[in-house]
Amino acid sequence: MEVNVHLTRLIAPDIYFVGVNDKRLDRFENMFALPQGVAYNSYLIKDEKTALLDTVDSSVTDQFLDNIKGVLQQRELDYLIINHMEPDHCGSIEAIVRLYPKVKLVGNKKTFDLFKQFYSQDIDKNTVLVKEGDVLDLGTKKIKFYMAPMVHWPEVMFSYELSEDILFSADAFGSFGTHNGNLFADEFDWENLFLDETRRYYGNIVGRYGSQVESVFKKLEIEKIKQIFPLHGPLWRKDLNIIFEKYTKWSSYRAEKHGVVIFYASMYGNTEHAAQLLANKLAIRGVEDMRLYDVSKTESSYIIADIFKYSHFVAASPTYNMQLYPVMEQLLRELIMLNVQNRSVAIIGNHSWASAAVKQMVGLINQMKNVEIIGQPIDIRSSVKEQSDKELEDLADQIAKSVLKY
Ligand code: FEO
Repeated sequence: MEVNVHLTRLIAPDIYFVGVNDKRLDRFENMFALPQGVAYNSYLIKDEKTALLDTVDSSVTDQFLDNIKGVLQQRELDYLIINHMEPDHCGSIEAIVRLYPKVKLVGNKKTFDLFKQFYSQDIDKNTVLVKEGDVLDLGTKKIKFYMAPMVHWPEVMFSYELSEDILFSADAFGSFGTHNGNLFADEFDWENLFLDETRRYYGNIVGRYGSQVESVFKKLEIEKIKQIFPLHGPLWRKDLNIIFEKYTKWSSYRAEKHGVVIFYASMYGNTEHAAQLLANKLAIRGVEDMRLYDVSKTESSYIIADIFKYSHFVAASPTYNMQLYPVMEQLLRELIMLNVQNRSVAIIGNHSWASAAVKQMVGLINQMKNVEIIGQPIDIRSSVKEQSDKELEDLADQIAKSVLKY
């Protein structure tokens, strides 16, 4: 008897999950820590025609091809729909074309421009160009295409299966973290197991493109969608309002909760002491939801995720070589790059013999849209003494008032 080695699952009538978990990759895009790995989701429709939706990273092609062969058995693959041409999803297209040389590759003009930039396989006779609103007829199932530029690259499309109202949403609604056997968000405690990693993925990967996320959602009839099959993380077939609500907040850069993220840089512990004093004063004033991070210890993606979550943040940093401490500068520049906006912010600097941190932090934070700076930035001289402690008291009063007024 032939041994069944494929990892697949029937997830809707004639639709199979054929994606692959990657627990070995250390950093997504070589930047973002993956303590729980990442999943490259892919879907295979077996109708009168067969269609694969996206592929997987080249590091896991072997398992992917086993999965496809396991589902298709002896059937041909008629179509490969390419919703996203980033290598974590397109890394196995060439292998698919080698295995199924007659396969039609379905994408838009930008899809194939990017393919030619990344790869050298001759696919001209395989390509099928589609545009907004085109429908691919597979028999019972019909796939309508919506262009979703900059969610998260310019060629991105969403595929909408019309008979079951399933949205294949590319990176949108994705998450870091592999599947743990279960695939659907309703099969486990999503909020405890995946919400933080979904937010960290959104903030750091898609965060810059909030207005583009909103534009594509306006084109879709959101209320009709019954299931969402993204390219990473859990699939959605129930309670879609949970993830829609989060995306509505995140894409409009509105906080989920009133609370304060305090992040500090500290060479010898004095700026950290000021940050801890402030956190203590805020707690005494009744602020309940706070996070305290050392920017040199915690990877920025985690701090950024919490900045997407909470209404307020405090940046505290020393001057370093007559400039802003570089790790703090990098984090603030990332927040600008990610279009973070609509936040209330306080600033604490520290210097011993030349003051630059406060001025530079104010300059960077003022580049963010609709950011209110609370009170006067504090500029400590080396360590907190009576005067700066009084300033921290005043700042804590103003931050607490701002957080608790809601
Ligand atoms: Fe999962 Fe934009 O790639």
